[in-house]
Amino acid sequence: MDLSVYPPNAALDDGRLILGGCRVAEVADEFGTPAYLIDAAGLRARAVAFQEALTSRHPHSQVLFASKSFPTPSVMGLIADTGCGLDVAGLGELLAAERTGIDPSRVVLHGNAKSDAEIAKAIEMGVGYIVVDNLDDVVRISRLASEPVPVLLRVSPSVDAETNPAMATGHDTSKFGIPSHQIEDAIAQIRREPMLDLRGLHAHVGSQILNVDQFEQAIASLAKLERFDVYDVGGGLGIRYVPSDSAPTIDEYAERLVSAVHQHLGTDVELMIEPGRSMVGPNGITLYRVVTVKRGVRTHVAVDGGMGDNLEVSLYGQPFDPAIIDKSGRLEVCDVVGRHCESGDTFVTGHALVEPAVGDLLVIPATGAYTFTMSNNYNGALRPPVVFCEDGSARVAVRRETYEELLGRDLR
Ligand SMILES: Cc1ncc(COP(=O)(O)O)c(C=O)c1O
Repeated sequence: MDLSVYPPNAALDDGRLILGGCRVAEVADEFGTPAYLIDAAGLRARAVAFQEALTSRHPHSQVLFASKSFPTPSVMGLIADTGCGLDVAGLGELLAAERTGIDPSRVVLHGNAKSDAEIAKAIEMGVGYIVVDNLDDVVRISRLASEPVPVLLRVSPSVDAETNPAMATGHDTSKFGIPSHQIEDAIAQIRREPMLDLRGLHAHVGSQILNVDQFEQAIASLAKLERFDVYDVGGGLGIRYVPSDSAPTIDEYAERLVSAVHQHLGTDVELMIEPGRSMVGPNGITLYRVVTVKRGVRTHVAVDGGMGDNLEVSLYGQPFDPAIIDKSGRLEVCDVVGRHCESGDTFVTGHALVEPAVGDLLVIPATGAYTFTMSNNYNGALRPPVVFCEDGSARVAVRRETYEELLGRDLR
């Protein structure tokens, strides 16, 4: 079994998969499947690595975890406790940030369609910055604030991100931020509003970016605008999903990013980054049990989860590397499919698994980001629990949804 895309504290003990010192099969017995398992120590270490990589090169900097990639107080809090700030989009994520107990000045509010309620709550909490995405934000903040609110302006860096089109956000036709030809006017308009204190600019190229040149391009394009004291250059660093992938390391990314900032924006600016996928993605695995093996024209190995707990394949065509664990034997070429009523609910086709059989445990690594986020109730699926595995003990961070909760909102 190739563990190269597994979390750092994954190991094999006599052929049996261990995560954070816990036998994964025992975690399955105790908490059931499907389940999201997090290498808690690995995640903490990665949060520290991001901060060290950035602050060692640029002391006046801050790493904000992009909460959208795993928006639950347990995960956000674990990362915030290492010293990271939190980037949130929406009232739910803002309330989750509040629940972590983080100092609100380390929270940044995003959103391309912020409601009055979100803005009012962010002002009441005293978040570090509200990121203005459009001119209606300007009107709302002006109306709701009673003293000047520190804001950043999200601008389009005019970069066509080399990623799945659904994950590209930095081009001029994007729904996010102000397109390049309108930036100067937007800055002027914000400056006319006494309740907005414009401190800097924000740009985000997109997600799963593997070519760090693209971050440099974004920074160079920010440098064409007026100089500010604060720059938040977003998230987007890509990760390895399958063993044949390669991705920049945190240090390679930080080196290129900070060099570009120093070259184009100067050494005295406040710098922020917002990693989501690259923070939490490599530290999570999803655990399933095989429900049925259908040997027909193809061999379909169906598990007890699917697009209800992982939309990355259907949304972005993301390749994954599922494996049957704790078993040795002959390899068989299979299609690994989910339990939902969609042909598109397929994790991977033509993939080698060890003699799949009903009851086997199947793990998909590199599923820490945007899986829990987009979990849903398709076919009445219950959203899975999140289990932190660390130092040989497994503890539930988010419990499994119940059928009472599933049906409880319906008033019939
Ligand atoms: C403004 C902003 N910041 C950060 C992120 C996180 O990106 P990633 O998870 O790719 O690091 C996103 C994701 O789309 C975003 O829109």
